[in-house]
Amino acid sequence: MTKTPTILTGIRANSELTLGNFLGALIPMVRLANQHSETAHINIFVPDLHSIISEVDGELQQNIIKPLKNYLAAGLSLNEHVHFYRQSHVPAHSELCWILNCVASMGDLNRMTQFKDKSEGKESVNVGIFDYPVLMAADILLYDAEYVPVGEDQFQHLELTRRIAEKFNKQYADIFTLPAEPKQQVAFMQVGEAIRIRDLQNPEKKMSKSSQSANSKIMLSDTPEQAKKKIMSATTDSVGKISFDMFNQPGISNLLQIDALVNNAPLQEIVSTWAGETHYGDLKQKVAEDVAVFLCDFQRKLATISDQEVLEQLKIGEEYANKIANAKLLEAQKAFHLR
Ligand code: ADP
Ligand code: TRP
Repeated sequence: MTKTPTILTGIRANSELTLGNFLGALIPMVRLANQHSETAHINIFVPDLHSIISEVDGELQQNIIKPLKNYLAAGLSLNEHVHFYRQSHVPAHSELCWILNCVASMGDLNRMTQFKDKSEGKESVNVGIFDYPVLMAADILLYDAEYVPVGEDQFQHLELTRRIAEKFNKQYADIFTLPAEPKQQVAFMQVGEAIRIRDLQNPEKKMSKSSQSANSKIMLSDTPEQAKKKIMSATTDSVGKISFDMFNQPGISNLLQIDALVNNAPLQEIVSTWAGETHYGDLKQKVAEDVAVFLCDFQRKLATISDQEVLEQLKIGEEYANKIANAKLLEAQKAFHLR
């Protein structure tokens, strides 16, 4: 009998998401999960042990629940193949991480750009930041996950996971499934060219939650009025025609792109409705309205999802995750003669 494949993704327990994160990461992931949940296990977990590499407070509990609610509000359908769990509620993650620490090499970890970025210029850096990718490898390898949809910034960690698994399989016991290479992951995601929503004030850059200017980004929690205002004040250009040309007209192209995505319409269709038009104000007005409706709809759905509902899913998911993870951990322990 062939094994049911696993698609696994870790969603960070952090604050608010931008419309860019939502359209570029969350929606494609939900689409993927809904497409495959009859034939694959879909593991969606919150890496809360990864969260504590930086300072956290009592908000963490709410921040763990929130991203899972976002998935449900974005249309994720639940069935017996979709599993929600918290990393800290599946102890095998930490235990396998220790074993993999004894396989991974300092040289490899020293090369991780996320570690370099997070430690640069700091007088003191905690070991968790350094060891982050090894815990991530454990998150993936415990479930034999082949597909791990993550952002580009995580590709290096994915490559490292493959290296660790390869070394383990060769030197100790052939027990781990290697996750697919980043290139194959991208193909699997079927997003083609990765969608990059631009910063509203500076459309040369991508929209990012870490941007200092509130007007440059639309947050999922923005009121429709706030969102409208931001779109109306978006930077455009002086070309004077409405066409899709990211190079010469990034601001206008970004608005067209956003409009297509919030309406779930092909970009070409939106672009052709504006052919020959020259009034940027009209385009902004239309996009502002559409984004407002989109946000209202999302926020209405979000409000109907209770903490209790998510906690119930976590309870079921964690029972499943512990079962699978403990079985794999035992194999790793045996390989090291610990059992
Ligand atoms: P941010 O810059 O907002 O902090 P992250 O780097 O944490 O975003 O990325 C989280 C996820 O959202 C990734 O999968 C990334 O590819 C996606 N993402 C981030 N910004 C955008 C954007 N402007 N457009 C589309 N997708 C984005
Ligand atoms: N490092 C990922 C991020 O920053 C989150 C993460 C942790 C993860 N463990 C994972 C993602 C395992 C996929 C698989 O977004």
